[in-house]
Amino acid sequence: MKILLFGKNGQLGWEAHRTLAPLGEVVALGSQDLDLTRLDELTRIIQQVRPDVILNAAAYTAVDKAESEPDLAMQINAKVPGVMAEEARKLNAILIHYSTDYVFDGKKGTSYVESDLTNPLNVYGQSKLAGEQAIGQVGGAYIILRTSWVYSMRGDSFVTKVLDWSRKQKVLRIVTDQIGSPTWARSLAEITYTMFVRNTGELYEYFLDKQGIYHLGGLGNVSRYDFAQAILQSDPKSEEQIIDCLTPALTVDFPTLAKRPLKTPLACLCFEKVFGLSLPGWKESLWLALRQ
Ligand SMILES: NC(=O)c1ccc[n+]([C@@H]2O[C@H](COP(=O)([O-])OP(=O)(O)OC[C@H]3O[C@@H](n4cnc5c(N)ncnc54)[C@H](OP(=O)(O)O)[C@@H]3O)[C@@H](O)[C@H]2O)c1
Repeated sequence: MKILLFGKNGQLGWEAHRTLAPLGEVVALGSQDLDLTRLDELTRIIQQVRPDVILNAAAYTAVDKAESEPDLAMQINAKVPGVMAEEARKLNAILIHYSTDYVFDGKKGTSYVESDLTNPLNVYGQSKLAGEQAIGQVGGAYIILRTSWVYSMRGDSFVTKVLDWSRKQKVLRIVTDQIGSPTWARSLAEITYTMFVRNTGELYEYFLDKQGIYHLGGLGNVSRYDFAQAILQSDPKSEEQIIDCLTPALTVDFPTLAKRPLKTPLACLCFEKVFGLSLPGWKESLWLALRQ
């Protein structure tokens, strides 16, 4: 199997690059190899590589910056996935794409299912929703995995930030009113891999049959505050912490350029039913991630 992976240096892309390697040949590209805003180059590369699978882990993920760069966010999060879907369809290739809980406004009050009405509150969410729609319009063997609160132990994630703050600050204020499903990038990469190895039949037909949008986040949900507390408690090097007090705060205490949806837990039963798989509980994944 030949896999063309975009976003190899991102949280998910880095994990996917190593995790998918046993499936066959993985051609992995980062922004230094290809600037995705160059759609003609993107098309040329896909046609040259002729992959069986396109895995798009690239995205414009700077949620606040997107408010001042809407065109760029739209280009990368909406136009690019549309082009990938078109090229995938021409090649009879499978497209695996990732989207976000930020397509919702967070006002539902309970976990979101795939058929719930979308209503993004910020440019990032709008651009990701437009990406889902662009892929859906093309059709083909596409799977869109809407995930949430992705973290990894590389780079700048909520988990690495909390660990860093805990070593520099005595007091940490974290919001209690944002609730979501934390998702470890490695477990997301691993479940993507398992979707492929589980199937022994004709892959294109298998994914074509299951085409659509699925929710896939770490099992369960938690507030940012409780998540931070779990990070501090599960920290294997807790002796390095100088923090005395984790203080509850509200989202309104931290004004940001982009408005964020408050409660976006994802119900992942549909993915479980169709693929027979689910991600581990967010707490188990966190414990493992902190020990990598
Ligand atoms: N992070 C979250 O909390 C979260 C939550 C829900 C859904 N998601 C979705 O999950 C997926 C993976 O997210 P992630 O956290 O792994 O993202 P990430 O760490 O920000 O990685 C995104 C990658 O996209 C690449 N990229 C951005 N602009 C590009 C361009 N013009 N040309 C080529 N590459 C470009 C970046 O390359 P460089 O590193 O070279 O700039 C980066 O490696 C995305 O679809 C995201 O929308 C993420």
